[in-house]
Amino acid sequence: MKPKTNPTRRTFCKNTALMAGGMLAMPLDIAAAAHVLGDDTIKIALVGCGGRGTGAASQALSTKENVKLVAMADVFQDRLDNCYEILSKKFAGTDKLMVSDEDKYIGFDAYKHAIDKADVVLLTTTPGYRPIHFEYAVSQNKHIFMEKPVATDAPGIRRVLATAELAKAKGLNVVVGLQRRYQKNYLACLEQIRNGSMGQIVSGQVYWNSAGVWVRERQPEQTEMEYQMRNWYYFTWLCGDHIVEQHIHNIDVANWFIGEYPLHAQGMGGREVRTDKKFGQIFDHHFVEFTYPSGAVVASQCRHQPGCVDNVTESFQGTKGTIYTDSQNKGIIRGYDKNILFEHQGEDDPNPYQTEHDVLFANIREGKVTNDAERAAKTTMTAILGRMATYSGQLITFDDALQRGKNLMPDTYSWDTLPKVLPDDEGRYPVAVPGQTQVLES
Ligand SMILES: NC(=O)c1ccc[n+]([C@@H]2O[C@H](COP(=O)([O-])OP(=O)(O)OC[C@H]3O[C@@H](n4cnc5c(N)ncnc54)[C@H](O)[C@@H]3O)[C@@H](O)[C@H]2O)c1
Repeated sequence: MKPKTNPTRRTFCKNTALMAGGMLAMPLDIAAAAHVLGDDTIKIALVGCGGRGTGAASQALSTKENVKLVAMADVFQDRLDNCYEILSKKFAGTDKLMVSDEDKYIGFDAYKHAIDKADVVLLTTTPGYRPIHFEYAVSQNKHIFMEKPVATDAPGIRRVLATAELAKAKGLNVVVGLQRRYQKNYLACLEQIRNGSMGQIVSGQVYWNSAGVWVRERQPEQTEMEYQMRNWYYFTWLCGDHIVEQHIHNIDVANWFIGEYPLHAQGMGGREVRTDKKFGQIFDHHFVEFTYPSGAVVASQCRHQPGCVDNVTESFQGTKGTIYTDSQNKGIIRGYDKNILFEHQGEDDPNPYQTEHDVLFANIREGKVTNDAERAAKTTMTAILGRMATYSGQLITFDDALQRGKNLMPDTYSWDTLPKVLPDDEGRYPVAVPGQTQVLES
């Protein structure tokens, strides 16, 4: 082993092992693995080779560390092949892509084989599966990047919260793709808020209003399970609905800036425009009022309707001033006399999708730990709470939602599994009806 000034894979492993309280499985695993690729190589596995997985792998491989992708997993061969082809082009002429055909795993258990091969895993499947994959990765002592949302139902959140504790005890890094937390304008604004520039936040408005996303049409040879997994956006057990899948980013900013999670939520929603059966069961709009322990009330809007005004931003009102933020690197704090108290307009700010991987891999190299899992689970739960409020039309507390929210996931996973939500004879799926739909276990 070459002498090094920076902590090496081996010292990092040792540190982590100490934090893990003497767990022997990990250092043995990594020592064995280090033999194959050399001591300072960090081996990565990608689980979920779709759009974001391809992006996350690309960002992980673009960090300064000595990283290599060594294994890939997906349920669909074509998704994995497409991802591999894109990465091959992007990293042509480098030694970053070291995935043999044997280490390209397909199927519902593929994640285990890929995770076993790596030091760091990227969990970027559709969100319904995240709790299962996260739990296995932590059980195998892996460092993790995982995409938001981290679950789609309350039992999934409880599982992620328990796993987050275990990851903390083991000293594992868990970075979650709520990238505003790694974006300069948001961090600069947070510092101002914590310094008291705008006083205490008393209200806010957060938005993800847009035209919507892709649809994947049913193919004659598909089982129901395959169809739902291909067209996953429109099934709540897989996606969470767009309030969870997309609007989580803005809801996360509310929780983060206010520094609390809501006590309760009530709201309304439905589907007005996106009503065809190909749009499964999710709503095309949600409007939720979240009430926080401090008394702050946040109005959250998300819409998937073409031809309407687009808005993906956050605004809050404090006792001394107001704040506006958006993902285009902007943050402005104004006094009530309209004077600008603070402004961040970062033309050249780093891409937060890259920053989150830079932080993860630098941490691993330096023996530091970032663990976003608990806050990401609680923010995902906040968005699920919002959905439960709009689906049911009831006022629901955070605690009730977390403890009693229904299990949406199937009991087993195979192409012949029947998901819990099924179409009628005309191919239409049941859609929640406020005032009638029950979202809590009795
Ligand atoms: N942070 C962000 O800004 C951002 C942006 C886009 C997507 N995302 C998140 O990334 C995740 C993936 O989204 P996407 O747009 O890449 O979707 P996608 O459909 O392009 O990719 C998902 C991939 O996961 C695979 N998959 C599904 N279930 C699996 C399982 N059980 N085992 C292995 N593979 C499985 C699918 O076959 C597919 O290839 C979602 O959670 C989404 O919310 C985050």
